[in-house]
Amino acid sequence: MEETKEIIIIGGGVIGLAIAIELKRRGAEVRVISRDGQQAASYAAAGMLAPMAENITVAPMLELCLKSRWLYPEWTQKLEELSGIDTGYLPCGILAPVSERANQEELLKESNQKIWLDRDNIAFYQPGLGKSIIGGWWYPEDGQVDNRCLMRSLLQTAQALDIKIQEGVTVKAVQQKQGKIDRIITSAGEIAAEKYVLATGSWSSQLLPIPVRPVKGQMLCLRMPNQPHEPYPLQRVLFGDNIYLVPRQDGRLIIGATVEEVGWTPHNTPGGIQKLLAKAIALYPGVADWQIEQFWWGFRPGTSDELPILGVSPCENLYLATGHYRNGILLAPVTATLLGDLILEGKSDPLLAHFSWQRFSHHHNGSLTKLKRNKEMTLLNNSSPSNNGLNLSLQVHQTPSQTRVANSAIDSSNQITSEDTLTIAGRTFNSRLMTGTGKYPSIKAMQQSIIASGCEIVTVAVRRVQTKAKGHEGLAEAIDWNKIWMLPNTAGCKTAEEAIRVARLGREMAKLLGQEDNNFVKLEVIPDAKYLLPDPIGTLEAAEQLVKEGFAVLPYINADPLLAKRLEEAGCATVMPLGSPIGSGQGIKNTANIAIIIEQANIPVVVDAGIGAPSEAAQAMEMGADALLINSAIALAQNPPAMAQAMGLAAVAGRLAYLSGRIPVKQYASASSPLTGTIS
Ligand code: FAD
Ligand code: GLY
Repeated sequence: MEETKEIIIIGGGVIGLAIAIELKRRGAEVRVISRDGQQAASYAAAGMLAPMAENITVAPMLELCLKSRWLYPEWTQKLEELSGIDTGYLPCGILAPVSERANQEELLKESNQKIWLDRDNIAFYQPGLGKSIIGGWWYPEDGQVDNRCLMRSLLQTAQALDIKIQEGVTVKAVQQKQGKIDRIITSAGEIAAEKYVLATGSWSSQLLPIPVRPVKGQMLCLRMPNQPHEPYPLQRVLFGDNIYLVPRQDGRLIIGATVEEVGWTPHNTPGGIQKLLAKAIALYPGVADWQIEQFWWGFRPGTSDELPILGVSPCENLYLATGHYRNGILLAPVTATLLGDLILEGKSDPLLAHFSWQRFSHHHNGSLTKLKRNKEMTLLNNSSPSNNGLNLSLQVHQTPSQTRVANSAIDSSNQITSEDTLTIAGRTFNSRLMTGTGKYPSIKAMQQSIIASGCEIVTVAVRRVQTKAKGHEGLAEAIDWNKIWMLPNTAGCKTAEEAIRVARLGREMAKLLGQEDNNFVKLEVIPDAKYLLPDPIGTLEAAEQLVKEGFAVLPYINADPLLAKRLEEAGCATVMPLGSPIGSGQGIKNTANIAIIIEQANIPVVVDAGIGAPSEAAQAMEMGADALLINSAIALAQNPPAMAQAMGLAAVAGRLAYLSGRIPVKQYASASSPLTGTIS
């Protein structure tokens, strides 16, 4: 393993390179590890520097963007000096033509950053606009940079400054120990450095549970006609309704961009390009006859609130600079400056507080941190001679209605240190028990059971909500969806097609409940009504399609290790093998196959269906399952809330036992109080 004092930047897009250069110029030793420069959003972007045109309304974000726009002239000038490469920075202003007159309230927002132009004035600024345009906004301080030239300039500057760039190298994992990154495992070997910066854009959640998702944008480029001694017909950026035209100084006209929630689906599509062309022609009809030069697409690093994630991380020596969504090119200089201050001088600009990763942490503002610790039960502690001085502490926090069991984790040196959380598709949960909403004797019993179980994920049958089946009428109000993550399921679907349709409805349902970024779906394709066994082929087909559409798919399957592997390869977020048929309460009937699934899986394995008693729940967790889904055994118990609590405790007990490592089974007795090998 290589050991180094460098700061390692993971990701060589505009953000990673900007930070690397900033750190190096301030005297740090820096290395950039980049998988593939060409896949970076930084190449795909339009390069608009557009806090006003992008209509940024969240105050700290606007402040961040304006700061960055203000830094741009000096920043690019320095890069150009160091690299000798023009960045194409142009403070050309942005014109936003509209087809409907702005209302009075909007007009009152006029300022020196935002000026209203009527039809004649806008035509004077930009002749040739579409007939429907009745005026528009002029943002005189917005502008553009040629982001591809900027990337070339950044790379050349990095070289000139002797920054080591490992292009074509993937960071495969970051190994954490006691709240720090111990080393990173890359395709070119292992490296242990002093500090690390995660700047992996859309791919961030592949390395750490950071809620960044890819938001695809398709683009194309035309060539503007060139009359001798005449300027190009477009001189300023035109920013319309879901369309923008960015004229470059070399005669290219960049047209963008679609905004598509399709996961990692690559390529340009006829539909996407057609939409862009139709809108471009409506905005500026002249483009209809210009030459098409190129199509491309890229993935914006999106977050649920559309704000970047900047600053410290849960690991002491790891910093985050990701999630810049639509404005990463604009935000590069300010990100580099603020991260430089933080990493090298320990100075945290107050602005950074608004962009902390903690806003996505489940504890943040949530109920968990607010629970009163009425009862703290230390089961084991440091002073116990029987545990080799390991800090094994398990705390049970109880309120009258709630019991939470704080989790513990054992790190690779066998020390129980930090919280042991469950991460699915980049989202982190404290509880490893999921429950459902079906079969309860009353809404009240359901509400109490969900709380008593301590679960944070509740699955809901989309079909039953649609048809307002008993117990599903008032689900929106019955559960506190600020605290519980909804897992829409496709129960009742017999074919892949049905399940795909219902999954899409499920996503809308979660949105209606305020879970805008919820893309989870529990996929059930069950043609057989007697045993309720899932169809493996239909499940795989539906999973492949739903993954393409950007869903986090949690497929319910028979405990078939080969199918589980295929589903993992298809991009599923978990696999959910059944213990025994749904609602049968037969317990874990297929331990051998579930054990193989657990051994082979690189995604969480959730044992679903068949568990009848807490001992069976604990059994599955002791085997190494990552989580459980239990509905019938709770809902149909004589006292559902009490059973829910028992299941919650069993899940924790089983998990802790798994992490602790049980003794091997021996054929013969072994005395508990041996006469040799004891402490005298
Ligand atoms: P990226 O540029 O995506 O770079 C991430 C890099 O990390 C990649 O090179 C990748 O290979 C590497 N990487 C990922 N995982 C690993 C790993 N495990 N190991 C090693 N390397 C890894 N912004 C604006 O300001 N103005 C615009 O006009 C604009 N228009 C846009 C138009 C489109 C169509 C798109 C897609 C984006 C646009 N953006 C715009 C947004 C902007 O492009 C992004 O916010 C910005 O480029 C993000 O930069 P980044 O460095 O974080 O990520
Ligand atoms: N900022 C332009 C885009 O993301 O499409």
